[in-house]
Amino acid sequence: MFVTFEGGEGTGKSTQALILADNLKKIGIDVVLTREPGGSPGAELIRNLLVTGSVDRWSTMSEVLLMYAARADHWQNTIKPALDAGKWVLCDRFADSTVAYQGYGRGVNKGFLQLLYLHIVGDIEPNFTFVFDLDVSVGLKRANSRMSGDAIVEGRFEAMDIAFHERLRAGFLEIVKKNPKRCTLIDANLHPREVHRLILRVLQEKGALSWGNPPV
Ligand SMILES: Nc1ncnc2c1ncn2[C@@H]1O[C@H](COP(=O)(O)OP(=O)(O)O)[C@@H](O)[C@H]1O
Ligand SMILES: [Mg+2]
Repeated sequence: MFVTFEGGEGTGKSTQALILADNLKKIGIDVVLTREPGGSPGAELIRNLLVTGSVDRWSTMSEVLLMYAARADHWQNTIKPALDAGKWVLCDRFADSTVAYQGYGRGVNKGFLQLLYLHIVGDIEPNFTFVFDLDVSVGLKRANSRMSGDAIVEGRFEAMDIAFHERLRAGFLEIVKKNPKRCTLIDANLHPREVHRLILRVLQEKGALSWGNPPV
């Protein structure tokens, strides 16, 4: 099972990916919790280039290709082997973030992004994608309060202007509309416990988890 967590900064993706991973492990499911950009040794090196430094450090196209260089490595070395072994892969951000950030946010042709996806990942999609939606200013405030230590230098995307973050939010909503089977929109204002329950319910209703002994 391949589950991805998508949405803007500070919407609770990492929080929920971790809660779900912990609770799935408790019921004996073999889980790989991973993230993008990053998630494999090579991709983590590329992540460092992407999430640090000045906002205008990369041209849009360099950013797209670095994201896909990282994704190619992550897919090959982490995600695909885990899925092939029958594990659950929970991924904190994946290709929808590239469509939102570089496509809706920075105007890259979405057909080109789709082509990269098909060549690098292939004809396979996440089984479930949870898209977290939240007022941009609330999300950025949460993200800033979270930042400390190493996270401070990882703020390149958080530092982009509000209009960019508004485009992202609208882009993610479009992605949900276009992929209603795969995507579930999550109201990120809800208490983390409620969000977790919602996620479990979707996994249960769509047959990925049994209804017995829900891991709450
Ligand atoms: N549902 C929620 N309501 C309020 N605060 C939350 C919620 N989920 C997460 N947070 C807090 O908001 C901050 C950002 O959460 P995080 O999971 O890191 O977001 P993301 O990974 O989407 O950027 C953290 O301090 C976290 O504890
Ligand atoms: Mg996060």
